[in-house]
Amino acid sequence: MIEIVEGDATDIAKIMPIMGDAFDPAFGEAWSAAQCLSALAMPDCRLLIAKSKDEVLGFSISRWVLDTEELLMIGVVKDRQRQKIGSSLLYETIKNATTGNRTQLFLECREGNKAIDFYSNIGFQPIGRRKKYYSSDDGNRPDAITMSYII
Ligand SMILES: CC(C)(COP(=O)(O)OP(=O)(O)OC[C@H]1O[C@@H](n2cnc3c(N)ncnc32)[C@H](O)[C@@H]1OP(=O)(O)O)[C@@H](O)C(=O)NCCC(=O)NCCS
Repeated sequence: MIEIVEGDATDIAKIMPIMGDAFDPAFGEAWSAAQCLSALAMPDCRLLIAKSKDEVLGFSISRWVLDTEELLMIGVVKDRQRQKIGSSLLYETIKNATTGNRTQLFLECREGNKAIDFYSNIGFQPIGRRKKYYSSDDGNRPDAITMSYII
């Protein structure tokens, strides 16, 4: 059974293997432990961990400003993807945002990332585009698609 629990900076070592496994290294999207630490040092930033017994299988990091929650990171270990672990993390994020009286959840995702299908499946709508926001090893500069979920 998958359990979604709240984590903190002491859990960073447990999520780093997922950071290395889930994200395509060609786009440099994975965060370093130091980046995770500085995000989680902020009081308005939340780490959620998906685990089965003691095995950490996925995580998400979000933060909120006034009435908007932003999903900063979400990842599931490759060999456990498409088993609704990402959905469980995202639904818990939506639940927390609702409880906190946020009115929307916002994110940005690289154009071409299959995660766009994942977000659309949950009800996120594309609301904008940031041109050439990402860079990849092959010299391409993919756009970021901004997406919103109205609570
Ligand atoms: C995006 C991610 C977190 C999704 O987690 P997940 O646990 O695999 O997703 P779920 O099993 O909850 O997927 C739910 C639905 O979303 C859609 N979906 C998820 N992954 C998809 C993919 N690779 N291609 C197409 N649709 C996908 C499907 O509709 C899926 O339902 P189905 O499997 O019944 O068809 C995971 O693929 C991941 O870690 N990706 C790499 C890191 C990343 O790119 N993160 C997002 C950065 S913006």
